[in-house]
Amino acid sequence: MSDIKTQLQNFSKEFNDYIATFFPESTGPEQRVVEAMKYSVMNGGKRLRPFLVIETAKLFAVPVRPSPVNVAVALEMLHSYSLIHDDLPSMDNDDLRRGKPTCHKQFDEATAILAGDGLLTQAFEVLSHKAVSTDANIRCELINLLANAAGAYNGMIAGQMLDLYAEKLPQEENSEALIRRIEEMKTGRLIRFACEAGAILGRADMDSRLAVIDYARKIGIAFQIADDILDVEGNQSLVGKTLQKDAAQGKVTFVSIYGLEKAKEIAAGLINEAQKSISIFGHKAKTLQDLAQYIIDRKF
Ligand code: IPE
Ligand code: IPE
Ligand code: MG
Ligand code: MG
Ligand code: MG
Repeated sequence: MSDIKTQLQNFSKEFNDYIATFFPESTGPEQRVVEAMKYSVMNGGKRLRPFLVIETAKLFAVPVRPSPVNVAVALEMLHSYSLIHDDLPSMDNDDLRRGKPTCHKQFDEATAILAGDGLLTQAFEVLSHKAVSTDANIRCELINLLANAAGAYNGMIAGQMLDLYAEKLPQEENSEALIRRIEEMKTGRLIRFACEAGAILGRADMDSRLAVIDYARKIGIAFQIADDILDVEGNQSLVGKTLQKDAAQGKVTFVSIYGLEKAKEIAAGLINEAQKSISIFGHKAKTLQDLAQYIIDRKF
C-alpha cells in the first residue's frame, strides 16, 4: 500500500475528473459565472474533505460509487464557495489561492460573489440527487447536517464571523476557549460533516458514529492549527497562498495566543487523541490513522 500522500494524490486525480463533469460547457454570456465556479473548483485543492467522506464510508463497507463520491462533490463545492468568499477584499483580501489568482482577481468581485453563491446552491442540488442514496431519509439527513455545518448557528459561517471580529473582542476573551470555538466552527464543522456523512451512508451504529465524530472534531481543529502554522513558516510556492497574513490582519489563532512551538504541541496532542478515537475500527482505519498524522506533517 502506498503512503498516504500518494494515496491522496491518486484519489485527487480521479476525483478531479469526476467533479469536472458537473460544470457543463458555458454557452450564453451569463455562463461567465459557471466559468468562475469551475475555475475555483478545478484549480488544484488537496481534496482532503472528499477523501475523508470516501475513507469513512469505507469503514462501513460502502463502495465509493455512487454514494460517497457524490456527497464528496457536494462538500467540495461548498468548501470551494467558502474559499472564494473568504478571499474577497472585504474578508481576508487575498490575491492567491491554490497557487493561482483568487476568483475575484481572475474575474471580478461581483462574479466571485455569484460564483460562491452558485457553488453553495449547487452543493445542495447534488446532495439531494438520488445518486447520493435511493433512501430519501438518508438524503434528508445529509442535507440537514450539511446546512447546519455550513450555517450561521455554530457552523462555518458563525466561525467566519468570529474570525473577522475576534481581535476586536476584549483581551480576556482571546482565550483558548475562543480560539477553539473559531477553529472548530470555521473549519472543523465541514471536516466533521465529511466524516459523519460516511457514517450516515454506512448506517453506522451509535458507538461507531460517535467515534468517527470524535476523530473528526480533533483532526478538524488540528487541521486549522496546521494552516495557521503554515501561514507563519510555510513555503509560499508550496502552500499556494500569500503567507504571513494572519498576524498582519490581527487574526486570533493558536499561534497568536501560544506561539509556534506550543501550537505544534497542541496540534500533535489532538492528532494523537484523534487516532485513539478510531482505534475501535482496528486495521480498517489505517488510512484514516495515517491521514490524521499527515494533517500536521503536510507542507501545503
Ligand atoms: C483551506 O482549506 C481553508 C481552511 C479551512 C484552512 P484547505 O487547506 O483544505 O484548502 P484546499 O482545498 O486544499 O485548497
Ligand atoms: C478559512 O480560514 C476558513 C474558511 C474558508 C471557512 P483561513 O482564512 O485561515 O483559510 P486560508 O488560509 O485563507 O485558506
Ligand atoms: Mg479567513
Ligand atoms: Mg483566508
Ligand atoms: Mg489560513
